[in-house]
Amino acid sequence: MVAQRVHEVEISGIRKMFEAAPPGAVNLGLGEPDFEPPAEVLRALGQAVLHGMNHYGPSAGLPALRDRVAERYADRAPATTRENVIITSGGSEGLMTAALTLYDPGDEVLVPNPGFVLYGPHARLCGATPVPYALSERRGFLPDLAQLETLVTERTRALVVNSPSNPTGGLIPRPLVDRLLEFAESRNLTVISDEVYEEMVYEGKFASFWRGGDRVVVVHSFSKMFAMTGWRLGFLVAPRALAADLNKIHYHMMACPSTPAQAAVLVGLAEASDAPARMMREFRARRRLIVQALNAIPGMHCVPPAGAFYAFPGFDWEATASEVALALLGRGLISTPGDAFGSLGARHLRLSFAASRPDLKRGLAILAAYGAEMASR
Ligand SMILES: Cc1ncc(COP(=O)(O)O)c(C=O)c1O
Repeated sequence: MVAQRVHEVEISGIRKMFEAAPPGAVNLGLGEPDFEPPAEVLRALGQAVLHGMNHYGPSAGLPALRDRVAERYADRAPATTRENVIITSGGSEGLMTAALTLYDPGDEVLVPNPGFVLYGPHARLCGATPVPYALSERRGFLPDLAQLETLVTERTRALVVNSPSNPTGGLIPRPLVDRLLEFAESRNLTVISDEVYEEMVYEGKFASFWRGGDRVVVVHSFSKMFAMTGWRLGFLVAPRALAADLNKIHYHMMACPSTPAQAAVLVGLAEASDAPARMMREFRARRRLIVQALNAIPGMHCVPPAGAFYAFPGFDWEATASEVALALLGRGLISTPGDAFGSLGARHLRLSFAASRPDLKRGLAILAAYGAEMASR
């Protein structure tokens, strides 16, 4: 009855865990900041809807917001202007728009393993084949150029990168960004760089893939930056000619992004630019707490995440990630099995620290008790 592509994708493993959770379970499965958007932004949204900003706007977004985003990128490539920017309905739509604009049936797309849950399915929905490249713990969860070289064929169209990474927290340092860009250039690939966690870095320095040029599409979002995942607003930064093509596809999916949300974010960028730093103070303290607690559990080890708000501990118990996650669920802790992000997540869990410190401590106590039980088997 339905198109073949429907059979190519599944509802993500993360959602399945929520559906099976007992009441009162501690939720460390969250992929969103547990904060509210800045007060200035909330007020601006109210003003926008009360003063008539309730209608369709330009498909590529409000010119003033596109200008403001372009300004943020001008220090990376001075010629960046609003023509390089498309405002999207979140990073998710940005990723799908990029996929539909760039991938033809039969193409191959290099995607991180483990990596965010949409990259592979988006390729498949376009009739392309996702080709996983490893982010191994041994290499600090960073891409290995030598492996990438072996995976490229004449069908390879694009390289998807994500720094800071969901789920690993890995941050690609500037020299490796440069080498990946050279690799893409030499192999004629477009880089789709998911930078939605740019503002969430604990160690090292964030390096954007955007340099102008004609090979990079940056996917970004206001979701995490302003704790407004439910507002659905993000953006793409791309070479001008490609931005015009991205806008065509974006128009056919969304018509335009939310007008009042854009008006409010515009105020947020001017008046609440310190909002991510405020959240980061709390995330930093929680990160210390969770990494320490995880490394004290027998059979578990955790590389401190350089960015984002997830711990991605490995375990050496005799169990699969799904078995561990289900056992924890039964004890009242929602986590995400690492293999929801690809085969190399098979011996990991993802635990979000976008949860209050009391919740974190409760969740970690459940995990510690489980770890002690597994160790004594
Ligand atoms: C790596 C990554 N990219 C993109 C997104 C999409 O976020 P949104 O659609 O809310 O902007 C997420 C959300 O969790 C993410 O973790």
